[in-house]
Amino acid sequence: MKSENPLHPLIRPRRLRASPGLRGLVRETRLSPAALVLPLFVVPGAGVRQEIASMPGVFRESVDMLATSAKRAADSGVGGVLLFGVPPAAAKDAEGRAALDPAGLVPRALEAVAAAAPGLVRIADLCFCEYTSHGHCGPLDAHGRVDNDATLALTGEQAQVLARAGADVIAPSGMMDGMVAVIRQALDSAGCSAVPILSYAAKYASAFYGPFRDAADSAPAFGDRRAYQMDPANALEAMREVALDVEQGADMLMVKPAMPCLDIIRRVRERYDLPLAAYQVSGEYSMIAAAGERGWIDADRAMQESLIAIRRAGADIIITYSALRTAQQLNDGTFGAA
Ligand code: PBG
Repeated sequence: MKSENPLHPLIRPRRLRASPGLRGLVRETRLSPAALVLPLFVVPGAGVRQEIASMPGVFRESVDMLATSAKRAADSGVGGVLLFGVPPAAAKDAEGRAALDPAGLVPRALEAVAAAAPGLVRIADLCFCEYTSHGHCGPLDAHGRVDNDATLALTGEQAQVLARAGADVIAPSGMMDGMVAVIRQALDSAGCSAVPILSYAAKYASAFYGPFRDAADSAPAFGDRRAYQMDPANALEAMREVALDVEQGADMLMVKPAMPCLDIIRRVRERYDLPLAAYQVSGEYSMIAAAGERGWIDADRAMQESLIAIRRAGADIIITYSALRTAQQLNDGTFGAA
């Protein structure tokens, strides 16, 4: 249908943008606090709450303080927390064995969160990079490369330790071949067949993890992670990685990082029916925070737009350092208000 007069279009998409009410009615994508997951970093001690220099508003906390943060998140309706242990340098060794300690930082944090916020889903990240002296994601072979199968041998044990400590979900992030199958078998043989696996299925070797490595003290002492994490140039390979994890029994999938990978999120969403998480990583968060501090962008609006874009691309679950603040904005009606 065309108007006679080109200066008077018949079809005017602007009609539906005229007021907040109309925009609200036709909005296609919404966020809810229940779909957000807040990452938390646990350090030894008591009463510790140190802000991470490269991540404004994000803290490393001792178990007691972390439990309070988890409670606050739960009270705002945040769906879950994702726990990372940050042991002192003295506790690290070449194999990352501190990750296998049933009385370690993450097991104790899991118990404290369960007590403080029983309804919150406790997701335990499973990796060795925070626990190895060299900062790589598993023990090294004679050539200094991460030994895939030696890492797998420890991976099952870490999964059992985390599940026994009360993890509701195990989230392996090491990008070792075969990790999901090993974890599934280890969990089942430990009587934890009900514990699901959220696999970091397509995880790229990304520059956007920089601030996290400060936060978790997990920067590799030499080299980089390109021999196990994926090349950002590849999308078909992401689909193969996802297929392997689905075959091995992954219950949920993850794409990471999020904004540089919106196309991957969309492709995984279209091909697979499993719940899909996207991780808005440390660098994505800190870029927005830093530009906001400089007055270059409105950090709140930029964060909201990013999260909506990740959801629109197809993520069901968003892991974000902004989970608490965003949940509060969703609750008080300031999300999307501008
Ligand atoms: C551990 C792990 C990393 C992140 C999550 N799990 C770091 C890495 O792979 O180097 C990054 C998260 C972030 O940047 O926010 N393997």
